[in-house]
Amino acid sequence: MSEIFLCRAEQLEEPGTWNTVLTEDGEELDIVVVQTNGARHAYINSCPHQFIPLETFPNHFLTEDKQFLVCSGHGARFELATGACYSGPCRGRELDRLKIEERDGAIYLAEELSPGIIARNKRMSRRW
Ligand code: FES
Repeated sequence: MSEIFLCRAEQLEEPGTWNTVLTEDGEELDIVVVQTNGARHAYINSCPHQFIPLETFPNHFLTEDKQFLVCSGHGARFELATGACYSGPCRGRELDRLKIEERDGAIYLAEELSPGIIARNKRMSRRW
């Protein structure tokens, strides 16, 4: 299992997000870490509608009321704690959740597969 540093817990607001991109073997795994109700979650930053990153501006992932992640493409909204699409063109689908672990105030990616393989698998799962 690989454990790769993503961010410090104190870098997350409540609620809030942190974006990081891991590069391996020419692949980029774009990750958004989310904090809500004191718990942390991580998702691949790729909208299930058209597989583009959610944000237009750096680390601007939340709706104005900070209740949802929002895709700047066509306005899909996602629940912070589950990644499920709440409204928008990909309703019923969800962001890809990534396993994380916390230790000594830091958040690590804790997936079996390496970031490059996860990113490649995601890229190859697209319909085009
Ligand atoms: S690409 Fe995200 S809502 Fe269309």
